[in-house]
Amino acid sequence: MKEVTWKSPSNIALVKYWGKYPVQIPANPSISFTLSAAATTTTLKYAPGNGQIEVFLEGVSTPSFLPKIKTFLERTAEQFPFAGTLDMEIHTSNSFPHSSGIASSASGMSALALCLMSVKQALGLPVENFFEEASEAARLGSGSGSRSVYGPLAAWGTHRDITGSSDRWAVAYDDVADVFKSFQDTILLVDKGEKVVSSTVGHGLMEGHTYAEARFAQAHTNQSELLTCMRNGDIEGFGAIVESEALTLHAMMMSSRPYFILMKPNTLKVIEAIWAFREKTGNPLYFTLDAGANVHLLYPKSHKDVILQFIDSDLRTFCKDGSYLCDEVGQGPKQL
Ligand code: DP6
Repeated sequence: MKEVTWKSPSNIALVKYWGKYPVQIPANPSISFTLSAAATTTTLKYAPGNGQIEVFLEGVSTPSFLPKIKTFLERTAEQFPFAGTLDMEIHTSNSFPHSSGIASSASGMSALALCLMSVKQALGLPVENFFEEASEAARLGSGSGSRSVYGPLAAWGTHRDITGSSDRWAVAYDDVADVFKSFQDTILLVDKGEKVVSSTVGHGLMEGHTYAEARFAQAHTNQSELLTCMRNGDIEGFGAIVESEALTLHAMMMSSRPYFILMKPNTLKVIEAIWAFREKTGNPLYFTLDAGANVHLLYPKSHKDVILQFIDSDLRTFCKDGSYLCDEVGQGPKQL
């Protein structure tokens, strides 16, 4: 068998994608920091065949992944028409623990999309824009995955201030002050359990949501304001928009029908402690949340020492088994 390997990072949204139309078209634009340490490495082994697929997670055969991969290959049949003429073994592993509550769909789907793009190239099929096509394919696997193919930031969804932005693929974005290119993201693992409601179901609940139209319009405005803050190096302005986006995401969950809550009591305790610390010390420490209870702490690299001390002394107690992961803005995927 021939093989190809890509390592693709996770990402954390600053303006949140929440709500979509068929097939995987976002209801609003989003922008994210590409991460560095949290990543999926996927090796795709392939040989001529008839579409047999086997998936291995951390070396162990994992047939439960097959339905998602088959759906992905159906959706990307136009881009990867050769998939049915090959037998494939997909070997995938994550740099973060499976039970950490960190979503592997963005990094996993982007790693697989990149592998298939490399196979496409190796088979001599025409490829015009490798990363754009990889991003589009990743999107069809998982919306946020479209943003994992570029660093240091990526924007997905048509937005008036981003030239070339598209609902079909993400674009790289780096028109930001240097401070944001080395921003830190320390992920507090508040809860490692299975989510009570999946992202896919949550997106669906935005259909007919009382606040949907206002929320989608707000995301456009927040993205414009965030871009201005990041271009100007305005960390305080950045933090205010990012925290508001996180709380709005969870407010949408709490006000959908059926309603649900993904935060845990310790999520709120962490948020209160961050606000008190900021008030008392003036340190630029901000948070964001994804669709779960874990808290992403965002701060400039220059404040790393004092903030890591604060995490150990005041925040660690709110983490399951005292665990957290240190990450930072990264440069995007790598072929290995
Ligand atoms: C809250 O990309 O996981 O993390 O497209 O159904 O796979 P699917 O959803 P997914 O949704 C991510 C939602 C979010 C916000 C974000 O990453 O923008």
